[in-house]
Amino acid sequence: MTSSDLFFTTTTTTTSKKNNGMNNNNNNNKRNTNSNTNTKNIFKQQTSKTNNNQTFSHVINERLYSVGLMVHRDSAENNSSLKWEFSKENETKVQTILKRYPPNYKRSAMIPLLDVAQQQNAGYLTVPVMNHIAELLEVAPIRVYEVATFYSMFNRSKVGSYHVMVCGTTPCMLRGSRDIEKALSEHLGVKKFETTRDGKFTLGEMECMGCCVNAPMIAVADYTGGVEKYTYNYYEDLTPESAVSIVQTLAQGKMPEKVGSQIRNKAEPITGTTTLNTEPTGPNCRDLAKLKKELEAAAAEAAKAAAAEAAAGAKK
Ligand code: FES
Repeated sequence: MTSSDLFFTTTTTTTSKKNNGMNNNNNNNKRNTNSNTNTKNIFKQQTSKTNNNQTFSHVINERLYSVGLMVHRDSAENNSSLKWEFSKENETKVQTILKRYPPNYKRSAMIPLLDVAQQQNAGYLTVPVMNHIAELLEVAPIRVYEVATFYSMFNRSKVGSYHVMVCGTTPCMLRGSRDIEKALSEHLGVKKFETTRDGKFTLGEMECMGCCVNAPMIAVADYTGGVEKYTYNYYEDLTPESAVSIVQTLAQGKMPEKVGSQIRNKAEPITGTTTLNTEPTGPNCRDLAKLKKELEAAAAEAAKAAAAEAAAGAKK
């Protein structure tokens, strides 16, 4: 590691105020070096334990890749000496977001602001972007780094104009997400987490995106048009062929015909609906307007009777 290396790990919280909490802390370096060494040892052990001349190295590699340490290394376009700002148009959005929170809870705006910043910055968050948000929210930069490195919706390295994320969690996996990933990988000519040479597509993965009922699915973040045209669409009920066809359509600069499920109406049963096929009837107690009228009439009747009773009592 060189002295200009900066580390972002999910476990590192030691900071130095002098250089925005991202200094090349020797302890952090040691900890990361130890962690890397441990990871390598685990890798070796697990690889050497396999039987029948088969290794699980590819599996281990994949897991390491998705859950491994997030390391930042200074580059010409991503280092803390650079400045970054929201564009004029987005500044209005930023102010609208900030107004949602009391001034002493400004930091609650962190995730929405990171989201807008990522859209403006072609899909990823650089150190100057995060530093600018820290300034806006009046928090230590490490507070922004820890959020940006924790949530998988934020990218810390450059992605393609279209970030294609294949859901790899159990329901999608059982319904064929690995075949979809393989088909996309072959079609785009990249492995998982890589970007195509023309910078158009990054093939990524995500954990469950909440539409297992329409598994398997992919999500596509579209950074081609900045904040104004940004979309984050789900494509569901996919086959390897339909997944490739979606990517082909996007490559032509067009929108796929249908977002969501490719073969049914939302999450309705694949064989068509079996309930609620006719206009619902009764029970009448659910007709609140009618019920209200009846109650009002009964109340008026009761008031009338009470008034008559009171008048009769007064006559006696
Ligand atoms: S498992 Fe893929 S959306 Fe839930």
